[in-house]
Amino acid sequence: MSKKILITGGAGFIGSHVVRLFVTRYPDYQIHNLDALTYAGNLANLSDIENAPNYQFIKGDITDRQFIDGLFAGNLYDGVIHLAAESHVDRSISDPMAFVNTNVTGTVNLLNAALKSWKNDPEGRRFYHVSTDEVYGELHDPEDFFREDTAYDPRSPYSASKAASDHFVRAYHNTFGLPVVISNCSNNYGPNHFPEKLIPLMINNILNNRPLPVYGKGENIRDWLYVIDHARAIDIIFHKGGNGETYNIGGENEWKNIDLVNLLCRLMDEKLGRPEGTSAQLITYVTDRAGHDLRYAIDATKLRSRLGWAPSVNFEEGLARTVEWYLSNQAWLEGVTSGNYQSYYEQMYGKR
Ligand code: NAD
Ligand code: DAU
Repeated sequence: MSKKILITGGAGFIGSHVVRLFVTRYPDYQIHNLDALTYAGNLANLSDIENAPNYQFIKGDITDRQFIDGLFAGNLYDGVIHLAAESHVDRSISDPMAFVNTNVTGTVNLLNAALKSWKNDPEGRRFYHVSTDEVYGELHDPEDFFREDTAYDPRSPYSASKAASDHFVRAYHNTFGLPVVISNCSNNYGPNHFPEKLIPLMINNILNNRPLPVYGKGENIRDWLYVIDHARAIDIIFHKGGNGETYNIGGENEWKNIDLVNLLCRLMDEKLGRPEGTSAQLITYVTDRAGHDLRYAIDATKLRSRLGWAPSVNFEEGLARTVEWYLSNQAWLEGVTSGNYQSYYEQMYGKR
């Protein structure tokens, strides 16, 4: 059945993989990609599908209420898949307000527009809010996992803004009957990941023989999922998820940061033909991130058992594909790192 779907943030890392999956998998769907093209948005991520007949890019800002209202007045969407956000924790420490504006106000603008547009005919429509496991806070006990009923305890301005947006989405469901679904996912990795985030930053710095800034003692733990498997989960949840439900998405793949950085160093030495141990010499322990969450880990049983999702790519394969992608797409890396981009560490403490 044909559907008209608005995907927000489709020029970013995860959004571009979601857009590609929907455009190629559902030729009957009309996909509108709404993105403000901030520093994190890059249309080069979608150059392979930009001329597809069922795809349209719309440049616009979700914080602009008039623009959003106008977009919904001119288009009756069957679904919204909302990924547009400020997504980097370190930036939220330097500039929390940008996160309030985009992640909270922007989300509420979309909710209001969808509510108005769908009020006479909500049947079969769906507002899908893509969120993060960081809303649950941090874990200490190695036996603990984030479940859908884990209490919210956001600890950074980023996670507080995502938690607020989740609350608004649920409030619009409970109060106004807006058909919604939410997912909370763990750390993604893969092609097109902006090199301010751990894995692409380390790959880029290894390539350029620059220091590898490991925050604190490198003992924080993250659960890594290949981005294509997140996109697949979003597809399944969008089509089969229950109205008003929440699904956690994760890779059951926990890594201590320092172990992951060492693994990347070994992989890169091999790929670049450097003697083993060369890249690891670049590891530099630096001042810790303020309020740095210790461990995230997801229990994805609900998604696996009720909707039949499972990751398709294991970490070894996913990381190898990711490293190969960055090595074959150095022009992309140069494109996004030229200009005045500086890592958080450099902004705070200067170049080392
Ligand atoms: P990203 O930063 O790579 O991309 C965000 C996109 O949103 C960019 O294309 C940007 O231009 C766009 N955008 C930002 N502000 C906008 C605005 N005001 N109006 C319109 N577009 C705007 O982010 P990502 O890593 O792809 O994350 C996408 C979503 O998934 C976010 O909501 C994030 O919270 C969530 N998420 C990310 C991860 C992860 O590991 N990266 C994990 C779980 C959930
Ligand atoms: O858990 C999901 C979240 O994962 C998403 O919601 C966020 O949008 C996404 O950015 C990511 O957040 P993290 O803060 O976990 O990702 P980041 O890549 O910034 O950092 C991963 C870990 O590596 C974290 O413990 C901090 C550490 N780190 C990061 C950078 C950039 C370093 O040690 N050095 C670095 O230079």
